[in-house]
Amino acid sequence: MTSTDRRSLDAQAIEHHYDLSNDFYALFLDPLMVYTCAYYRTPETTLAQAQADKLDLVCRKLRLAPGERFLDVGCGWGSLAIWAAKHYGVQALGVTLSREQVAYAKAWIAREGLEHLCRVEHRDYRDLVTEDSFDKISAIGIIEHVGIANYRAYFEEIYGLLRPGGLFLNHGITRNHYWERTPQWDFLVEHVFPNGELDTVSHISTVLEEARFEISDVECLREHYARTCRAWAERLLAHAEHAIALVGKRKYRTWLLYLHSSAVGFEQASIGLHQIVALRRDPSVRGVPTTRESIYTETPARIPGRAA
Ligand SMILES: C[S@@+](CC[C@H](N)C(=O)[O-])C[C@H]1O[C@@H](n2cnc3c(N)ncnc32)[C@H](O)[C@@H]1O
Repeated sequence: MTSTDRRSLDAQAIEHHYDLSNDFYALFLDPLMVYTCAYYRTPETTLAQAQADKLDLVCRKLRLAPGERFLDVGCGWGSLAIWAAKHYGVQALGVTLSREQVAYAKAWIAREGLEHLCRVEHRDYRDLVTEDSFDKISAIGIIEHVGIANYRAYFEEIYGLLRPGGLFLNHGITRNHYWERTPQWDFLVEHVFPNGELDTVSHISTVLEEARFEISDVECLREHYARTCRAWAERLLAHAEHAIALVGKRKYRTWLLYLHSSAVGFEQASIGLHQIVALRRDPSVRGVPTTRESIYTETPARIPGRAA
C-alpha cells in the first residue's frame, strides 16, 4: 500500500468511528470524554473518578512541569491536553484526525479560558515534523490505528520530535502472544475499527528500541480496561433510546456488541493494555527517577489558584 493510500484509509477509518456523533459518545463516556482505559484505584471508584485518575497517572509518569512543551498524539476530544494544561501548566498541543473532536475540544478550551496554554488541531501525526521539539509526548490509544508495518516510522518520528532527555508515554491495546484472528475480530475490523491492528507488548517494545528509545517503565492495566468497557456498555444500555435516536439501531447494537466483546477479551486476557514510558536518552542529562515512588507520593505540580 502506498503512503497516500494508507493516509486516505486512516482518514476514512477515523471518520467512520470518531465522527459518528459527539452526543452519542457523551452518552456512555465519562464527563471528561476519555475514550481509553481508565485507572481504578479502588473497587468502589467510579468511571468518572477513574478517568480523572488515569489522566493524572499519565501526567505524573511523564513528570509534566509548568512551561514544558507537551504533545498528545491522537488526542480524542482533548481531555488529556486540557487536563495537562489546566493542572500541570504545560503548553499543550493535541492532534486528532477527527473534525468532530476538534470542534468539541476547541469549544471546551474556550470555556476553560485555556487558549494561551492549549491547542487542539486536525492533523495527521505524519504532519508534525515541522514542529519545534517537545519535552514530553503521549500517545493514548492511537497505536491500534497506526498499523504494524508503520510502527518503525511512527516511533522514529516521535523520537525526532522529542528533545534529548524527553519522555514518551505509549498507552495502547496489546494482544496475547497466542491470540488468533476470530470472527469477532473480523466483525470489529469490518464494522467498528476499519484500520485496527493489534500487536504484542514485546514487539511494540522492540520497535521502540529499534527507534532508539530506552524503555524506562512498562505497566499492564488489562483488568482496568475490562472494567472500563463494562462501565461504557452499561451506560450505553441505560441510554438505549437516546442512542438509537442519534445513530440508529444498527450502530447502537454494533457499538454495544463491540464494548461487551472487548470487555470479555480483556477479562480473558486474549487482549491487554500496556503503558510504556520510553526515554530519548541524553547522556549529559539525568534521566527519570530510579524508582516509581514519586509518581504515587509527590503532589502533582498543580497551578496555583486553579481548582482541581
Ligand atoms: C481511541 S481514540 C483515543 C483518544 C484519546 N487519546 C483518549 O484517550 O480519549 C484514538 C485517537 O487517535 C486519533 N488518530 C488515529 N489516527 C490518527 C492519525 N493518523 N493522526 C492523528 N490522530 C489519529 C483519533 O482521531 C482519535 O482521536
